[in-house]
Amino acid sequence: MNIVFTIFDKILFKNKTIVKKRILVTGGTGYIGSHTVVELQNSGFDVIIIDDLSNSKIEVLNGIEKITGIKPVFEQFDLTDIDKCKRFFNKYTDIEAIIHFAAYKAVGESVEKPLKYYRNNLLSLMSLLESMQTFSIRNLVFSSSCTIYGQPEKLPVTEDAPVQEAISPYGNTKQIAEEIIRDTIKTDKNLKTIALRYFNPIGAHPSAHIGELPIGIPNNLIPFVTQTAIGIREQLRVFGNDYNTPDGTAIRDYINVVDLAKAHVIAIERLLNNNNKKAFEYFNLGTGQGVSVLEIINSFEKVTGIKLNYKIVDRRAGDIEKVWADTSFANKELGWQAEKSLDETLLSAWKWEKRLSEE
Ligand code: UFG
Repeated sequence: MNIVFTIFDKILFKNKTIVKKRILVTGGTGYIGSHTVVELQNSGFDVIIIDDLSNSKIEVLNGIEKITGIKPVFEQFDLTDIDKCKRFFNKYTDIEAIIHFAAYKAVGESVEKPLKYYRNNLLSLMSLLESMQTFSIRNLVFSSSCTIYGQPEKLPVTEDAPVQEAISPYGNTKQIAEEIIRDTIKTDKNLKTIALRYFNPIGAHPSAHIGELPIGIPNNLIPFVTQTAIGIREQLRVFGNDYNTPDGTAIRDYINVVDLAKAHVIAIERLLNNNNKKAFEYFNLGTGQGVSVLEIINSFEKVTGIKLNYKIVDRRAGDIEKVWADTSFANKELGWQAEKSLDETLLSAWKWEKRLSEE
């Protein structure tokens, strides 16, 4: 596929026809960003990444290249710096759309350091939106989160569910960001945005060339599971078994990161082809299935044959009881649905962990 595109490009280039549309991916060396870059390249897009590498590594570019054969153009800087941002857009004048991932995402840290989160997550978005206006870029895909629904009253969660008061400053940055975009669109008829509200992204690329790279002790369940299985962590703690769920542990909707990445390509194509029905659209991205913490542990043990050392401890502050997505709107409008099974996804996370341990 990529070889075909390379040859195709060269032939057309002689006739001065550019076929590849250029997409900017901010936070493109991060977890979801890197998987999305791969899917964009596999779909024939030309990708430029901006990342300040505050929570990712430059080596991720090598992983992307191993999968697609293409090393994306990379610029390292902090997007909150509007001057650098505008210099960037002066240099690259052919960007057709932007996927904005770059943001801090540790829920616990955001409670400790709220200003760090508000400054980074909101100023970077504002720099981008201002630059988009200055440089007439119309299409934005925004990386949002199901955290904006809090503990929903009705399950599965539809896009109509009310946005609830945020539990953490991190969650609040996602709510405020969506509001900033909505208000900007009201005054700028050219701007179109699709916000993708993710449930719990997990797993890694099946090649194990890219995956999640938690820095320090992981906050999220799956990296903690794989690090316990490989022996980096001694014991997994299960936060609470007294929830109102069948086995007492909390329920989430775990979505494979490659499935999630593919939804971004569809969102970009929808904007570029003017197939969006409103200037601001938003979609829930999940599997539609709720899975408990104990079910995750059981599935992981089954597919890997490894017994996990875990114990039940108290609930984690700020955790909700249960949430899973109603995916029918995304299925209908985007023609997208999650394809990979939980077992396959957990195996990909395990393969990635083993790969990391070889380095
Ligand atoms: N859990 C454990 N042990 C751990 C880690 C997690 O039992 O060591 C449990 C949690 O209590 C929760 C489930 O596993 O019930 C999933 O926890 P994660 O930390 O993996 O994910 P969260 O659902 O808490 O967080 C995710 C995203 C956030 C987002 C949040 C909104 O990672 O970005 O959903 O609910 F804000």
